Amino acid sequence: MTTGVVIVAAGSGKRMGGQRNKLWLPLAGEPILAHTVRVFASHPEIQEIVLVVSEQDHADVRAWLAEQNIQLTVVLGGAERQDSVRNGLDALTNSAYVLVHDAARPFVTPAQISQMIKQVQRDQATILAVPVKDTIKVVGETGVVESTPARESLWAVQTPQAFRMSLLKEAHRAAWQAGSMGTDDAMLVEWLGYPVTVVLGSYENIKITTPDDLLLGEEILRKRKG
Ligand code: CTP
Ligand code: MG
Repeated sequence: MTTGVVIVAAGSGKRMGGQRNKLWLPLAGEPILAHTVRVFASHPEIQEIVLVVSEQDHADVRAWLAEQNIQLTVVLGGAERQDSVRNGLDALTNSAYVLVHDAARPFVTPAQISQMIKQVQRDQATILAVPVKDTIKVVGETGVVESTPARESLWAVQTPQAFRMSLLKEAHRAAWQAGSMGTDDAMLVEWLGYPVTVVLGSYENIKITTPDDLLLGEEILRKRKG
C-alpha cells in the first residue's frame, strides 16, 4: 500500500520573531527544513512527498531543493495550517495512506515514521503523542481557574498524524463546508465520529516554536551524534 506525506512548511514563524520563516534557521549548520525533509525523503516506506510552502518562500525552497537534488512536489499553502494541509492532500496522487507532518518538528525518527505507517493500516487514524508532565488547568477569561482535568488522561499531541487518505480527505471536506477550524488534523476526523488512536511519541520530538527551542534542538542533535 502506498504511503505519502504532506509536510506543512507554509507558516511565517511569528512566535520565533525573526525576519524570515523560522524553518530557514540553522540547526547544526543546516536549515530546520532540511532536517525534516531528509528524514522523509530517505525513508524506504514513503513513496510520495508533498511539501507545502508559502508564496514568500516558494522560490527559495525550489532553489534549495534543486541544489540538494531532492525531488518532491511543492505546492502553496494557505492562511491557516488547515488550509495548507488541504492543499497538500490535493496534490498527493497515488497514496492510500497519508502522514501529515509539521516541518517545524525536525526530530521525528525513521522508527517513529515506520511505527505510524504500521499503525495506520490497522487503525485508519492514529496520532503520535506524549503524556503531559505538568498539571494542566482550564482557566476562564477572568484569569480564574475553572477546573483541573485529571493528568492521567491528558496527552500532548505531536506530528506525524497518520490517516487512511479517503478518511482525511472526507474530514477536511466536511470541516471546509462547515467553516470549522481544527487545531490538528485528528480533530477533524474526531468530528466525523471516527476513533483516533494514540501512539506513544517521544519528548524529543519537539516543535521549534520560540528561540529557546533552538537551544534544546541543538542539544538533542548533539546527544544523538553521541
Ligand atoms: N503552517 C503552514 N501553513 C500555515 C501555518 C502553519 O503550513 N498557514 C505550518 C508551519 O510552517 C509549521 C506547522 O504548520 O511547520 C506548525 O505551525 P507553527 O509551529 O505554528 O508554525 P508557524 O505558524 O510558522 O509559527 P507561528 O504560529 O509562531 O507564526
Ligand atoms: Mg502557527
